[in-house]
Amino acid sequence: SLGVHEPYVRSFVRKTPNWPREGVTFLDISSLLADVRALRHCIDSLAERYGGGHLTHIAGIDARGFTLGCALAYRLNCGFIMIRKAGKLPPGDDESSSLVSEEYEMEYGRGQLQVPADLFESSSVTTPRVLLVDDLLATGGTACAACNLLRNAGATIVEVAVLIELSSPEICGRRRLKEDAYIDLHSLL
Ligand code: PRP
Ligand code: MG
Repeated sequence: SLGVHEPYVRSFVRKTPNWPREGVTFLDISSLLADVRALRHCIDSLAERYGGGHLTHIAGIDARGFTLGCALAYRLNCGFIMIRKAGKLPPGDDESSSLVSEEYEMEYGRGQLQVPADLFESSSVTTPRVLLVDDLLATGGTACAACNLLRNAGATIVEVAVLIELSSPEICGRRRLKEDAYIDLHSLL
């Protein structure tokens, strides 16, 4: 956990009520990432928890999950996996380098996440042990899809770690992650 640093880190999460639409409060971590101490406290806390976990990779979800995820990967001497939104990755030039995809529910319609199908094949790691990282968990739909995607690509997922966990009587991403993907959640705020 963040321990005594929690109020400091929390003070950098900027809330915008009724954005991008009425009834939704947007939580932005731009200022948190821009503050060297706040960023360091987050990475230190995650590194402490996962340092002995024999992880081979950290996976981050496009786009905000790339920030903390890649910093943590460097710190833990792991590779980093970009889980990209559909349409960002090239399909490859032959059948051995295609993409694996997973759909998820969004507020309006469906989204899709993708990674290269041969993600782990070219690396020296034969049994990938992956931590999935994102900035925020709300419904858990995005994280569940990312877990399915990583599993289909051959990974074992150790846990999901987020900076901010939202929960309310209507939204419980932690429960969804457990029930749909059999994965535990760790959150800093
Ligand atoms: C936000 C956030 C999480 C996701 C959480 O990403 O960064 O990835 O929503 O929502 P859920 O738990 O209900 O699935 P967003 O899709 O807004 O895109 P971004 O990271 O590219 O800003
Ligand atoms: Mg996101």
